[in-house]
Amino acid sequence: MRTFRRKQQWNALLRIIIFDTTLRDGEQCPGAAMNLREKLEVARQLARLKVDVIEAGFPVISDGDFAAVHAIAKEIKGPVICALARCVPKDIDAASRAIKPAGKRGRIHVFVGTSRTHGETLKKSQGQVLHLAVEGVRRAKRYVTDVEFSAMDATRTDREFLVTVCKAAIAAGATTVNIPDTVGIALPEEMTELIIFLRNEIPEFRNGAVTLSVHCHNDLGLAVANSLAAIKAGATQIECTVNGIGERAGNAALEEVVMAVKTRRERFVGYGTNINTLEIVRSSQLVARLSGLVVQRSKAIVGGNAFAHASGIHQDGVLKMRSAFEIMKPKEVGWRGEKLPLTKHSGRAAVSVRLKYLGFKMTDADVNAIFNRFKEIGDKKKFVYDDDLVALVEGCVNEVPEIWALRHLQISSGTKQVPTAVVQLENGSGLVQDASTGDGPIDAVFKAIYRLTR
Ligand code: KIV
Ligand code: ZN
Repeated sequence: MRTFRRKQQWNALLRIIIFDTTLRDGEQCPGAAMNLREKLEVARQLARLKVDVIEAGFPVISDGDFAAVHAIAKEIKGPVICALARCVPKDIDAASRAIKPAGKRGRIHVFVGTSRTHGETLKKSQGQVLHLAVEGVRRAKRYVTDVEFSAMDATRTDREFLVTVCKAAIAAGATTVNIPDTVGIALPEEMTELIIFLRNEIPEFRNGAVTLSVHCHNDLGLAVANSLAAIKAGATQIECTVNGIGERAGNAALEEVVMAVKTRRERFVGYGTNINTLEIVRSSQLVARLSGLVVQRSKAIVGGNAFAHASGIHQDGVLKMRSAFEIMKPKEVGWRGEKLPLTKHSGRAAVSVRLKYLGFKMTDADVNAIFNRFKEIGDKKKFVYDDDLVALVEGCVNEVPEIWALRHLQISSGTKQVPTAVVQLENGSGLVQDASTGDGPIDAVFKAIYRLTR
């Protein structure tokens, strides 16, 4: 068994670089087009998430990409702001102009295909590719000290040539060298071997003078596994995306890499990230909403079912002791509220907890009556939702104590208006009233109700 030395002489912190394809149009996923305002909103959230680097776009590609990178560089404080460029002068010059407002926090990321296949598509010999790499890094270095070089298709590049290119890029001034698995073909053990090989060949990777990074695509569903293998072998920068979105099958999902390192810390001794995990779910939901790329329910960490225990045995176990079926706390990644979806397999205890969560105070006899009706419904429906439970309560229990009563509701909404709601409620202590704005009229109503009732 390989043992991994605790890192001493090099930085033990993983740099998490987000190149969110919603921000970086150069490598797109279908459907993930966002306007400037939306990109800025995502960038603000990535800063709250405390990513180390935001690769904000590919400025030469379009005016829109340029404007987005420029605006992000101007407004976002905290993370390094990076712009992507081919090893081509006009790309690098555009990248430098776009990140200028970030000042010392600006990074230029230059790349060139180093495999034979990519050399053929570029119609370049290895010598010419080497020249492009060196010239690209040198030109970027004229503008910024922080330069990342990527050997695109590194996992299919001849090993000897890969070492030559990496060394040349470092000699030219690259401060980060990125090893992309561009086509997502690598297996975890191959990634481990490659990173160990590169560290053995290149002293700057061993002594921490240059950051060794990986960028894994998910064509075989291995992007996260490969990133973790690379970390264990000594990579200290992981390029990833929120929700794992990206070109084709996507890239390593930030939330999975971060939570694997955190949850299995005994296996990643000496490694950690700066990520504020409490912001993970919010980031995921924002990116999904603005990009239009819906997160599948069964997706790890951020999927709707990630912490939802559906089987009766699991629900029972979780209610007795969460660690019986949960390796992370939902709150740790920013989930709020109870996540147990009820099914016909759910037990009485789960139904009782859900009723309490919905605000019903019930006797054992009430719960029993509802549970019997619940079982009937569970046989007909896959999931029994909160609305179903509320309807059951209304049908089964004669006297549900009324906690709040709605006395007045006024909504203002229109194309040029900020949706606003005024809500008046009454409980045992008297009348209370509040107003709220929202994304829409319903949102405004619920925000006002929430403020009044908590
Ligand atoms: O997949 C890839 O090789 C890339 C590079 C531009 C880093 O996205
Ligand atoms: Zn990529």
